[in-house]
Amino acid sequence: MSYRGSEFYDNESNFEKYMLRRQWQENANDTLEKPVISQLLGDISDQHILDLGCGDAGYGAELLDKGCSTYVGIEGSRNMFEAASSSLAAYSNGTVVHTMIEDYTYPPDAYDLVLSRLAIHYLQDIEHVFRCIHQTLKPSGRVIFSVEHPVITSTLQPSGTRTNWVVDHYFNEGYREQQWLGGTVHKYHRTVEAYFRAMQKAGFIVEQLRESKPVRENFTNDETYERRLRIPLFLFLVGRKNA
Ligand SMILES: C[S@@+](CC[C@H](N)C(=O)[O-])C[C@H]1O[C@@H](n2cnc3c(N)ncnc32)[C@H](O)[C@@H]1O
Repeated sequence: MSYRGSEFYDNESNFEKYMLRRQWQENANDTLEKPVISQLLGDISDQHILDLGCGDAGYGAELLDKGCSTYVGIEGSRNMFEAASSSLAAYSNGTVVHTMIEDYTYPPDAYDLVLSRLAIHYLQDIEHVFRCIHQTLKPSGRVIFSVEHPVITSTLQPSGTRTNWVVDHYFNEGYREQQWLGGTVHKYHRTVEAYFRAMQKAGFIVEQLRESKPVRENFTNDETYERRLRIPLFLFLVGRKNA
């Protein structure tokens, strides 16, 4: 059985709790994930961008404000799609498509950049999706994505402030279930090597690999910073299509 990663966000209570959590001061996305994504993106002016699992597309609006040429978000959850439609309402060059990442019809040679933030660990078959990404990129186009770090997805545990971590079953790739924000999330664990090799297999030159090493200035609180030094939460990869 394959699970749809966006289902979780169509439960009203999960959706509300998720959106509230994203507004927490010092949330992991803003302190650890977004700064690395911004560095990896660099200058995006005049680029045509596709964003897989765009959520509420708040970031899409930021990219449009920074001068990207067009932004297309792909979003499987109805709640998120509606939130994204409203984030992009003021932009004639920003749109969101309500479809699963696996089902989107990827136009050939269309985008300069395919971005995906924290959505690819919901996909069962990344090899298929990476091939689609490769063919939808223009020559020299880039894919940049973040996922939950494999040391976390190997042994998912209920959310909350954790004080210890166990990494186990690391090489047993595949389906994982997590109780999170009062709901059940369906994710797929794979190793760092598996992500890397899947990109190469799809034809990408893998240019960068990053982890979410905390940077002190992104935190107001010493305690949160110290806690974030304990374990990596996110993994990032950048691939380029041949010229
Ligand atoms: C953790 S959220 C991240 C949202 C956004 N990228 C961000 O960083 O703010 C993951 C998003 O991916 C979407 N998603 C997960 N699996 C998906 C799939 N197979 N097809 C389309 N969307 C999916 C979810 O609905 C959710 O909006």
